[in-house]
Amino acid sequence: MGLATLIVGCAAPDSGSETRLPGRNVLSEAQLRVAREGRVSFTDHVKPVLEAKCAMCHNAKAQPGRMSLASQAEAIQTGTLGSWIIPGKPDQSRFLSQLESGHQGVKAMPPVGEVLTPEERLLLRKWIAQGAAWPAGQLGRLAIAP
Ligand code: HEC
Repeated sequence: MGLATLIVGCAAPDSGSETRLPGRNVLSEAQLRVAREGRVSFTDHVKPVLEAKCAMCHNAKAQPGRMSLASQAEAIQTGTLGSWIIPGKPDQSRFLSQLESGHQGVKAMPPVGEVLTPEERLLLRKWIAQGAAWPAGQLGRLAIAP
């Protein structure tokens, strides 16, 4: 991260936290274009974003019993898919509204680190609208830092 980014992050008016930084796109322009124009792929588009900005905190080891993003199996088991993400219904998916602002004592996400860019929010919204397909097995397993 460049010094300029850090300074902008520190100076930005914020939502109650000093540590939420302006985000940069995890995906390349080319990948974003594919997601914008066609079908959003979990493996190519969604997973890299969740891996970079969410999954280090949202897995069974870091937060036992809470919403996990580690794999399709854990996502179903912990309600990530079905409760927080309602496939086909982005407007009812609190996974998305949690990115904008806090709710009932839970902070806006992520609470620290780089926030999602507008492109990344749109991509997640479109993925959920298209049915939130999440493959089983290795392709649907996120790399979680130990
Ligand atoms: C630095 C750790 C951290 C990161 C990064 C993070 N979260 Fe969270 N998240 C938490 C914690 C801790 C909670 C539990 C509520 C609280 O204490 O505010 C939570 C709660 C949530 C909830 C409410 C469901 C629940 O289990 O309580 C959602 C939805 C959520 N996070 C989505 C996300 C998304 C999407 C991202 C990535 C853009 C993200 N979070 C990144 C730590 C994190």
